[in-house]
Amino acid sequence: MARHSARAIRQRLESLSAGGVTDLPRAHRQPVARMPPAAAREAAPKPAVATGSRDHALDVIRQEVAVCRRCESLACARQNTVFGAGAATARICFVGEAPGADEDASGLPFVGPAGQLLTKIIEACTLTRDEVYILNVLKCRPPDNRQPLPEEIANCREYFERQLQVIAPEFICCLGTTAAQALLQTTEPIGKLRGRWFTHGTAQVLCTYHPSYLLRTPGAKRHVWDDMKLLMARMGVEL
Ligand code: URA
Repeated sequence: MARHSARAIRQRLESLSAGGVTDLPRAHRQPVARMPPAAAREAAPKPAVATGSRDHALDVIRQEVAVCRRCESLACARQNTVFGAGAATARICFVGEAPGADEDASGLPFVGPAGQLLTKIIEACTLTRDEVYILNVLKCRPPDNRQPLPEEIANCREYFERQLQVIAPEFICCLGTTAAQALLQTTEPIGKLRGRWFTHGTAQVLCTYHPSYLLRTPGAKRHVWDDMKLLMARMGVEL
């Protein structure tokens, strides 16, 4: 066990070093400001809390991802890795599947048509993209937007799990089958997973349909709105 841990630590340090990381943040255990319910949020000044340690910890992982070649064919084809965006102290993370063409070109998650719909969903919840955190299971674009392969998800798991560990959100919203099944390590279909509560570490997890699916199936929007109402009610966000 101890030998295994030592090896894992050595591998992590070698990977960090390959990514050009020369220093590491201290573990942080300070309380961080959390987003209060809607009314208070509007009145309150920005939290006077150092987000630096989380930002730094995320940057360390971001640099590792930027040089990752675990999925050689994805690494060869990518223009950019797409790490994630938003507040390191967010109460809620939205987890998607993988970058598409627009995300690959920009390096930012959910900026194409599905992303614009996600932005509308977030704003309908009275939130902004800046106060949530958005990430994908895969950090590289699969060719022709095909679904991620199990081995690609396995290769990226370390990154998205560490990302979530650093952010430590109270809530996670999985967008679509790939995110829901990867995060919850299940094979249940999204139609069965949505609208129910799960846990992942200390986070409460709700799954819903992916915005891309909504673009193809507008009739499913009402289910997503039902899921968002459930989520916002539990977060204490008034709609
Ligand atoms: N679909 C996703 O799952 N993620 C993105 O970033 C864009 C589209």
